[in-house]
Amino acid sequence: MPLVTSKELFKQAYEKGYAIGAFNVNNMEIIQGIVSAAKAEKSPIILQVSAGARKYANPIYLKKLVEAAVEDTELPIVLHLDHGEDFEICKQCIDDGFTSVMIDASHLSFEENIALTKKVVDYAHPRGVVVEAELGKLAGVEDNISVDIKDATYTNPDEAKEFVEKTGVDSLAIAIGTSHGAYKFKGKPNLDFERLKRISELLPEFPLVLHGASTVLPELVKACNEYGGDIPGAQGVPEEMIKEASKYGVCKVNIDTDLRLAMTASIRQNLKEKPGNFDPRKYLGEGRSAVEKMVKHKISNVLGSSNQI
Ligand code: G3H
Ligand code: 13P
Ligand code: ZN
Repeated sequence: MPLVTSKELFKQAYEKGYAIGAFNVNNMEIIQGIVSAAKAEKSPIILQVSAGARKYANPIYLKKLVEAAVEDTELPIVLHLDHGEDFEICKQCIDDGFTSVMIDASHLSFEENIALTKKVVDYAHPRGVVVEAELGKLAGVEDNISVDIKDATYTNPDEAKEFVEKTGVDSLAIAIGTSHGAYKFKGKPNLDFERLKRISELLPEFPLVLHGASTVLPELVKACNEYGGDIPGAQGVPEEMIKEASKYGVCKVNIDTDLRLAMTASIRQNLKEKPGNFDPRKYLGEGRSAVEKMVKHKISNVLGSSNQI
């Protein structure tokens, strides 16, 4: 099976009320860990590549590794550009065979965001590629965000509807209180579910995307801390909140930090407990298994996409 777009995958996820994991990939071990988990769980999967990943691995290497994963697993895999910052990077990825791109113009004005997103949609759609855009700004590490700040930075439901109608975009990343990285909340985790419900009412049958959706499991933070390094105060989005979000149109859940934590904790443990081991296959192999375990957990216990292919 060749790479697929997310069109049909999101339609089915929306109807059945589950979400598809979009996992960031940077190297062979991460890709192999993710697709082994997806294969074992019989789950569709999105492999997403950031500009940083392209720079780190060299685009051609990532592309060929993903092609190998498709050939090896025969899974429905979407190859997606994460946070494309301008038209050029989106065009490059479309021309390189990606089946999905994100244009992230959320830092621009509403009108400029619409114009740039539409330009990408107009290039992507005739080439069979789908487009994700973003409206609103992901939160920083805040304790109690005031209503005023929420209204200024979180996604405005009426604007979301107008944005989708004017751009023809295929999915929309929304801001309801999540943020990137390991530090998402200072106090109690809190997402604006009322806002999410309003957005999904105004955009029926339309796939929404949740960025910054890592859970930052306490046991992984503990393991990272125990084996060297320290990430005090790290806190993610509780798993129950991710499950809840997928009931209201969230069909794509972005996860990067949890994979970083899983792989790093495993490698730190390995190097500390077996100092005589200097064979990279040993510690990278265990890192790959840690990624696989994490993705299996996400698919089967959080996203609900097991046995959907
Ligand atoms: O949202 C960003 C992703 O976690 C990718 O991070 O730009 O460091 O590759 P990166
Ligand atoms: P996390 O940092 O929560 O894993 O979010 C990743 C993400 O949104 C990638 O686009
Ligand atoms: Zn993101």
